[in-house]
Amino acid sequence: MRAPNTHREEPAAKRPLKTLERVLSKAGLGSRTEARRWIHAGRVSVNGRETQNPDQWVDMERDRVSVDGKPLRVQERLYILLYKPTGYITTYKDPEGRPTVYDLTTDISTFLSPVGRLDLDTSGLLLMTNDTQLAERITNPESHLPKTYLVKSSKVLTDEQLQQMRDGLDLSDGPTRPAIVSRLRDSAKYTHLEITITEGRNRQVRRMIEALDARVLKLVRVQIGDIRIGTLTIGKWRHLTPPELQALGVNDGRSDRRPQG
Ligand code: URA
Repeated sequence: MRAPNTHREEPAAKRPLKTLERVLSKAGLGSRTEARRWIHAGRVSVNGRETQNPDQWVDMERDRVSVDGKPLRVQERLYILLYKPTGYITTYKDPEGRPTVYDLTTDISTFLSPVGRLDLDTSGLLLMTNDTQLAERITNPESHLPKTYLVKSSKVLTDEQLQQMRDGLDLSDGPTRPAIVSRLRDSAKYTHLEITITEGRNRQVRRMIEALDARVLKLVRVQIGDIRIGTLTIGKWRHLTPPELQALGVNDGRSDRRPQG
């Protein structure tokens, strides 16, 4: 067997190239739109040269990126859990001016992105982080990370209908994977149930209930993987605990870069 050649240079194609705009937003400095603005304003340089090109490829291992003359430095990764209320959107800016989850995290100076989305009219657990690798891993359709929701449906659902949800329903974008469904209680007009799905399709729970000729009146996400919303107050956030990070496969919190000083 050949001994590994530790001095061999990795081919350029395999090195971690990213666009300048992405490097800046990944470093927790702001959104990609803001990063573009700084680049166009001439505040960013690569290897000592000012650049106006947000799409310039940057090699994170070799290139020196500076903002306002300050080099990016290693940045701690942040992982938080926000209890999103209804009426808040999960994007950074809304052309209609509606409140966003960033209005609830103004006390965090690092730019964090939501991991996946929750609809405007859904409340509950939203993870936010500047660890783009974790975010990509969780949102990858292959990840099948279980997510649990409490649902109030607009009709009383039969046992057969709950079984249909367990077995998989035909939606416009294909059949759903099997779900875990428990009836919590019925009132005269409504069913309250808990459902765990292992996909993250657009408005999936709502569309599953609609496939049963009912509507979702209330939807709350209470768990993602091993992380539960617990007693967190609505509208508040907290850091993920070390066991929660470990359960997500995160072991080291340092590696991105941001400006020094
Ligand atoms: N399913 C939905 O329908 N909406 C959400 O926000 C999340 C899951």
